[in-house]
Amino acid sequence: MKAYDTPDQRNLLDQMKQGVIGQPLDRPEGALKVSGTAPYAAEHRVPDCAEGVLVLASIGKGKVTAIDTDAAMKMPGVLAVIDDKALLRRPAQGTAGKAPVQGPATVDYFGQPVAIVVAETFEQARAAAIALRVDYEEAGDATFDVDKAEYEPNEKPTESGDLEAAMQSATYSIDVEYTTPGHVSAAMEPHASIAVWEGNDLTLYGSFQMLSYNVKELADALGIAPRHVRLVSPYVGGGFGSKLGISHDAVAAAIAARRLGRPVRVVLTRQQVFQTITRRSETRQRVRLAADIQGRLTGLGHEAWVSNLPSEDFAEPVTQATEFLYAGENRRLAVEIARINRMTAGSVRAPGEAVGMQVLEAAMDELAEKTGIDPVELRKRNLPAEVPGDGTPYSSRKLSEALEAGAAAFGWKHRKARPCQTREGDWWIGMGMASAARVNMLVEAEARVTLKTNGEVVVETDQTDIGTGSYAILGQIAAEMLGVAITRTTVRLGDSDLPAGAGSGGSFGAISTGSAVFRACETIRKRLAAKAGIEEEQLILKDGFIYAASDSVPKDVRSLLDGEDLTETGGIKPGKTSKEYSQASYGAFFAEVAVNAFTGETRIRRMLGAFGFGRVLNAKTARSQCMGGMVWGIGSALTEELQFDPRNGRLVNHDLAEYHVPVNLDVPAIDVILLEERDAASSPIQAKGVGELGICGAAGSIANAIYNACGARVRHFPLTLDKVL
Ligand code: MOS
Repeated sequence: MKAYDTPDQRNLLDQMKQGVIGQPLDRPEGALKVSGTAPYAAEHRVPDCAEGVLVLASIGKGKVTAIDTDAAMKMPGVLAVIDDKALLRRPAQGTAGKAPVQGPATVDYFGQPVAIVVAETFEQARAAAIALRVDYEEAGDATFDVDKAEYEPNEKPTESGDLEAAMQSATYSIDVEYTTPGHVSAAMEPHASIAVWEGNDLTLYGSFQMLSYNVKELADALGIAPRHVRLVSPYVGGGFGSKLGISHDAVAAAIAARRLGRPVRVVLTRQQVFQTITRRSETRQRVRLAADIQGRLTGLGHEAWVSNLPSEDFAEPVTQATEFLYAGENRRLAVEIARINRMTAGSVRAPGEAVGMQVLEAAMDELAEKTGIDPVELRKRNLPAEVPGDGTPYSSRKLSEALEAGAAAFGWKHRKARPCQTREGDWWIGMGMASAARVNMLVEAEARVTLKTNGEVVVETDQTDIGTGSYAILGQIAAEMLGVAITRTTVRLGDSDLPAGAGSGGSFGAISTGSAVFRACETIRKRLAAKAGIEEEQLILKDGFIYAASDSVPKDVRSLLDGEDLTETGGIKPGKTSKEYSQASYGAFFAEVAVNAFTGETRIRRMLGAFGFGRVLNAKTARSQCMGGMVWGIGSALTEELQFDPRNGRLVNHDLAEYHVPVNLDVPAIDVILLEERDAASSPIQAKGVGELGICGAAGSIANAIYNACGARVRHFPLTLDKVL
C-alpha cells in the first residue's frame, strides 16, 4: 500500500473521456432500496433466531448491586438474562479499533445497558426486560450540569501574537458568547445486530460505518481474535457518526448468541438509540474578533467548552476550521472539556465544524454589521494567502469563487443591509449568508478490482454505503478507468471479508476508497498494456476495446485475458501531501427567511449553497449530500436540541417526536452549485470530501438571516420562537 507522498498531477480520470466520472448517474442499488428489498441489519433471514432486548440503567451514576434474573427466567419464552460485564462497555466512538472498557458493574450515565434479556419472540423478551428488577447503589458525586462542571484544557491551545492587545487596539471588535445544544445523529435505521456463531467464528449482520475498525472493536469486546469476526453491512440506513464505532446491540447479540448456542437478534428501539448511542456535545463558545478600519482581522479568538464522560478521548473539535479559515495573526483557539454523566459524546454530522462554523459565521455577521461592510465582502477580505501562524499552503480553495457564485445566483445584492426593512403581512423577511469549510482527510484504504473474462468489471471493498452513494461512485471510477460501461460494472461493499476500505466517516470515504479503486485500475491498465505490448501511456480503453493509440485498430479487451480474470488490489494511505498542505473543502451558504412578527416563528423561504470540493465524482450524489447537509443546518438552527434532566442526566426528548429534525414542510427549495475543481494534493483522483460540507456553517446563515429579518440577534441555538420573539 503506497503512501500518497507526491501530488499526482496526471489527471488520468480527465484523459479517459469515457463520460462516466462525474455524471449524475443513479445509484445502482436505488431500486432495491425503494422497493424494500435491500436487506438492512435487522432484516437478514437467519433461521432459529432468538430475540434480545437491552435493559438500560435507570440511574445516572453508581453501580448495579443485584439483578433478579430468577423472576425473569420464569416468564414465558425467556431463554436467558445476561448481565455480563462486557455489556457495560461503552460503544466506541469509532476509528480507535478498541472498545473502551469501564469498570465492571459501574454505571456512568442514565440509559447505559446493564443487561440483555433473550426470548423466543421479541414481545416475550420485551415483556421480561420491562419487568426485570435491577437494584442500584447511586453514587453521590455525579455531575449532570454543564454549567457547574469543571473544565480542563483538551489539547494545547493554538496561540500566536497577542490577542488581548489586538482586541484593545482594534478599530472594531467583537467579543461574544454563543451556545449550541447537544445533538444526536438521528439516522433513520435504528442500530440492530444479528449474531451467528459457527464454532469459534462469528458472523454479525449489523449497521456500521467503519467495518475494519468495527471488527477489531467487537473482537476486543468479546476477547477473541479479529480473524474470527466477520461483519456484514451491505446497506446502512444512515450513520451520521452514530455507527462509526461498535454498538451495544452488536456486543450484546454476540455474547448472547455464544451463550445460547443459537443466533440472536438485538434491535434497539428509537428511544434506546437516543439514550445509549453517542451524542454531540453541547458547546459554549467565545468568539473574539479584532479588525482594522477596513475590516481586516488582526486578531481571532475562538474558545469552546464541551463535555464527555470520564476517560473518553473524544472532544468536539469546535475550532477545527477556525485554524485555517480567516486571517488574524494574533490568535487563541482552544477547547476545554468537562466530565459529565451523560451518554458518550462522539462524532455527529461533521464533528467540529458543524457547530464551530455556525457560531464563527454568526460572529462574523456581527462584525460585518459593526464595520458596515457587506458580509460577503468581509469574508473575502479575510482570506489569508497561507494558513496564519504556520505558513502552510492551501492545496486548493474555492471559497472566494463560492462566495461570488452563490451571491450572484441568490440575488444577494437585493439584501437590505439593516434589519427590519422588509415586511410582508405578518412576516419580516431577511437574508443571511455564511462560509462553509470542512477539513479534508485521506485515510488508509484498499479495494480489489477484477476485469472478468466476459468483459465485466467487479469492484470489491468493505467500504460501506450509508446512503451517500458509494456504490455509484466506486463503479464510476472503475468504469472510467477501464473503459467499461457502468452497466457492466458491479460493486460489492459492506462485508469485512473484502479488502478494507476507508469506511464512511469524516467525509473521507469517497476520496480514500475511490483512490484505492483508482490504483487497482491503474495496475490493471499496466498489465493490459504489457499484454498488448505497448506502453501504458499509449493505452486507450474504451467501450470494452483496447487501442494502442487513438487511430489504431481496436481489439476486444477480452481477447487479451487468455481466459483468465484479471484481478488487482489497490491501496492508499496518507503520506506527505496530507502534512504539507492545508486541505479543506469550501463553500458558501445563502438563506432567506420569514420571521413571524407575532409568534417569532421562522420559516426558511430559500436556501442556496455553492461548494468547491475537488473533482465531482457524481453530480447527483454530491448534490444530494450538500442538500442533506443544509437540511441538517436547518435543524441545527431552528429545532434540534437534546434536553437532559438535571436531576439524573436522563435524556428527556429521546425520540423523533420530541427531538425535532426538519421535515418536508420545514425545508424549502434548496439550490446547490457545484464548482469544478481539481486537487492533486488531496488524492490521486483529485477529489476532496463533500459528505459533511453542507452542514458546516449552514445554521449560521439562517441565524444571520433571522437577524437581518427582524433584528433579533440570538446567540443560543436553536433559534426557537421564544428566543426570537
Ligand atoms: Mo461522521 S459524524 O465522521 O460519520
